[in-house]
Amino acid sequence: MDLNLIRSTFKKHFGCEGSVYASPGRINLIGEHTDYNGGFVFPGAIDKGMVAEIKPNGLGKVRAYSIDLDDYAEFGLTENDAPQASWARYIFGVCREIIKRGGDVQTFDTVFAGDVPLGAGMSSSAALESTYAYALNDLFNLGIDKFELAKIGQATEHNYVGVNCGIMDQFASVFGKEGSLIRLDCRSLEYKYFPFHPVGYKLVLLDSVVKHELASSAYNKRRKSCENAAAAIRRNHPEVEFLRDATMEMLNEVKADISAEDYMRAEYVIEEVQRVLDVCEALEKDDYETVGQKMYETHYGMSKLYEVSCEELDFLNDIAKECGVTGSRVMGGGFGGCTINLVKDDKYDHFIKRAFEAYTEKFGHEPKLYNVVISDGARKLC
Ligand code: GLA
Repeated sequence: MDLNLIRSTFKKHFGCEGSVYASPGRINLIGEHTDYNGGFVFPGAIDKGMVAEIKPNGLGKVRAYSIDLDDYAEFGLTENDAPQASWARYIFGVCREIIKRGGDVQTFDTVFAGDVPLGAGMSSSAALESTYAYALNDLFNLGIDKFELAKIGQATEHNYVGVNCGIMDQFASVFGKEGSLIRLDCRSLEYKYFPFHPVGYKLVLLDSVVKHELASSAYNKRRKSCENAAAAIRRNHPEVEFLRDATMEMLNEVKADISAEDYMRAEYVIEEVQRVLDVCEALEKDDYETVGQKMYETHYGMSKLYEVSCEELDFLNDIAKECGVTGSRVMGGGFGGCTINLVKDDKYDHFIKRAFEAYTEKFGHEPKLYNVVISDGARKLC
């Protein structure tokens, strides 16, 4: 990220200097679509994110400039002031969610830019939300704790973007720690850092560079299916609040009462919750073969049961298998984006070469490659 560009752009637009904050995107080793089911996730923050310079302006309106989109927006802070531009709605939403919680946010000038690839499933939007939630909390001395900052980002997605997401992305962006993945129990919000240095392996993302339309409505539909299945199970087992609390036996009891689609979605989630726990156990023994096997199982579930993969991602997963990659799966919400791959050092060069050649031949364009560097969460830079 070019800090000088942010600083010079802020100066050019507003004639002064502000404070600079940054928040990262994230990867997720395993535990996909489990967060809104009260299950476990295993994300880490990455070395790509959003950076914003910001300074209170006392003008009664926010003045915001997106360097990447070369677009400018102005808006007030009441509910009626929602800006048109979708990027500006994220900033507006964060302000509104803080105000709703009683935080005294004043208007400000800001310039921001990012290097999280958009639509790649690495949570550029959570990075943007966390940057502003963290910055406004710090600038206006609001005393909001880190979990609430993550929840402010999540509520922004729900109420100003229209995605009923879970807490994983914003949590990882705020709580990230260099060199560590974080296991989060999305029901109790207990979390534990796991230093992640798989000796002899690399963690690499292959970006399909496709983003399918309607991803957010399909995402919301998946969530609804899970809620339907949990509600049906709850009629027999009142203690089941989320699918995380359910077993396959409980799901099978209500098989005839729910749609075949809802059944498949719930089956995937129940299995995925268990896979995260299995991976944690395997990591404690440095058993990366098991970790990798679970990643392939997740891919299969996301593709065949949850149906959030696509031809391009299935293709990348097949190539990984063919090249003897230890683990590979679609990462994030799905419907395009990246696969995450755990690759032995001695297989890496061959895998990347083969994936680039085969993918380009089949789809007419190259995938993109990102080597994962696990990094710190939201912070003030200067
Ligand atoms: C998106 C959402 C997250 C999570 C993942 C799937 O990234 O924002 O809350 O549900 O999809 O694991």
